[in-house]
Amino acid sequence: SAAEKGGYEYFMLKEIVEQPQAVADTLLGRVGVDGTLTLDEMRLAPSELRDIEKIVIIACGTSYHAGLIAKYAIEHWCRIPCEVEVASEFRYRDPILNRQTMVIAISQSGESMDTLMAVRYAREQRARVLAICNVNGSTIPRESDGVLYTHAGPEVGVAATKTFLTQLVACYLVGLYLAQARNLKFGDEINAVIEQLANMPQQVEKVLGTVGPVRELAKSLADSGTVLFLGRHVGYPVALEGALKLKELAYMHAEAFAAGELKHGPIALIEDGLPVVVVVPSREGRGVLHDKIVSNIQEIRARGARTIVIAEEGDDTVRPFADELIEIPAVPTLLQPVVSTIPMQVFACELALAKGNDVDQPRNLAKSVTVE
Ligand code: AGP
Repeated sequence: SAAEKGGYEYFMLKEIVEQPQAVADTLLGRVGVDGTLTLDEMRLAPSELRDIEKIVIIACGTSYHAGLIAKYAIEHWCRIPCEVEVASEFRYRDPILNRQTMVIAISQSGESMDTLMAVRYAREQRARVLAICNVNGSTIPRESDGVLYTHAGPEVGVAATKTFLTQLVACYLVGLYLAQARNLKFGDEINAVIEQLANMPQQVEKVLGTVGPVRELAKSLADSGTVLFLGRHVGYPVALEGALKLKELAYMHAEAFAAGELKHGPIALIEDGLPVVVVVPSREGRGVLHDKIVSNIQEIRARGARTIVIAEEGDDTVRPFADELIEIPAVPTLLQPVVSTIPMQVFACELALAKGNDVDQPRNLAKSVTVE
């Protein structure tokens, strides 16, 4: 009903706007004033946390993209090797798991059959399974050793929006918690990141206040045959997520590449007027990658691409090469996906609406996929 949609025409629009609150709710009660994290729901004793030798993340679709981002954060903060795999591939390739492996199953619904089967397989192999989930009491958390709920509130639109942002926050919490529990030497960096993480609801709010121009831009692209997405580092999974959203909602061909791979083939696709969305890494800490992507933007623009650039506010180096510039707040590199994903969501949603599609119920899709 209209009341359930809070005055919005579609649940998806409402769920995009709810993201600052959703992110705040994921953090609620988990970050102490002194920066100490409390994640008792992980149900792992400190000794067990210290024993973990490998992390394997399994998930599907958008949740898989959250897992890809988590890998960058967890390996950097915890120095624990971390693999990420789509759940449907996992148990069919004889993966190496044991008691010292922590498997993180990310699933909004907690009911994706592919992920559930992977969880069962992992437990049979004696791995410890932690679920990151949004639906209380759903099957995957019930069958896992521990669960971290995202508390995003019900998500009705088939496209994951607020649950993706909150999955990222939950993954960051796990990574930072493991780093704290394992007493790693770069405590200062960890504490600084925790402080910034606690500030993310405000940053998300800020992005929502500035995405207006993305709507107009999206409408102008409704007739494009294809849209490409480029990113690097944590921006690469964000590009993958941008492309998935466009396929799912606007039924358009979209593809994402790691920007460094462009020269190994995909650059041949660039032709006059082709829209290319580029996620520019934050300047903090990853200066080299930032500059490399700026030259990628120059290269594709010289070949006729229409460049749609998502970059930190005040990043003047990209301005001359951006046909369209979408500014996001400056946040630490590893947290950037929390803000850079939002323009992608709005872009896909508006493009779909411009094409007259039902964004809450895209064709051929179900909110949770309960078959393998
Ligand atoms: C996201 O927009 C999609 N609807 C889809 O890829 C989804 O993320 C995937 O099916 C996984 O669902 P889950 O998180 O409920 O397991």
